[in-house]
Amino acid sequence: SANQELYTYEMIEQTADFLKLRVHFQPKIGIICGSGLGSLAQDLKDRIEFPYSTIPNFPVSTVEGHAGKLIFGFLSKVPVVCMQGRFHFYEGYPLWKCAMPVRVMKLMGVSHLIATNAAGGLHKNYKVGDIMLVKDHINMMGFAGNNPLQGPNEDRFGPRFPPMNKAYDKELIKKSIEIGENLGLKDNLHTGVYTCLGGPNFETVAELRALKMLGCDAVGMSTVHEVITARHCDMHVLAFSLITNECILEYDSQNEPNHEEVMDAAKMRQDTLIKFVGKIVDYIYKE
Ligand code: 6GU
Repeated sequence: SANQELYTYEMIEQTADFLKLRVHFQPKIGIICGSGLGSLAQDLKDRIEFPYSTIPNFPVSTVEGHAGKLIFGFLSKVPVVCMQGRFHFYEGYPLWKCAMPVRVMKLMGVSHLIATNAAGGLHKNYKVGDIMLVKDHINMMGFAGNNPLQGPNEDRFGPRFPPMNKAYDKELIKKSIEIGENLGLKDNLHTGVYTCLGGPNFETVAELRALKMLGCDAVGMSTVHEVITARHCDMHVLAFSLITNECILEYDSQNEPNHEEVMDAAKMRQDTLIKFVGKIVDYIYKE
């Protein structure tokens, strides 16, 4: 897949150096804001914002692409960097390009990644507005031969054959459940298996039934390639899905999923999610 265009280590370094020169604190935690969760980034104190188009070597936004920003600042007094808007495979970027900002974060000193997304709920108990902490994923695009780590391995980031059986930090999940329960979210909190499809279409009934049989609890169009890239360079990872719609598993259903309901559900939960992430970040920093 167009290997000659891969980012070199030096390019990622150049991007990190550009940002380091302009941000006078070291972010400890990287946060990727999923659909409708961008307000989290807007909540940071002492913000420094970089539209993606102004950052050297960053992927160039597509025409329709809601122009994203990299935002540095403080959340619960913790220095963080947020991606407000991410890069998706369905926009036409190769996966290594989609995940490139994770490596930039690594070189800036980020040790923990919190990846968030909006997802369809496959598990029968999941309701709109619920939060699923990701305990594992099924890399469907990987099954199909597409992976952000394809091409010559960059040993300075990590090993050729990185393990993924401990991708999602158990302690962080445990602590996040505790934090969620203290926020009164007990009945809206789950741990489950996430899967990412290429998109941009939502799935057919047969596809969703197949995913469910495979053990997937939530389905979306992001996160997995970012997590793989983060684990490759040994970052700690926490990921969660906001369930924005229930997957339609019956042929006689009158409903059709759409982007508006996804955004609406996310908006309804944004204040809760900001509090949730704020407390998680606070915990990580104190550890
Ligand atoms: Cl039902 N599928 C996918 N792939 N992504 C989603 C979704 C469904 N709902 C929100 N995001």
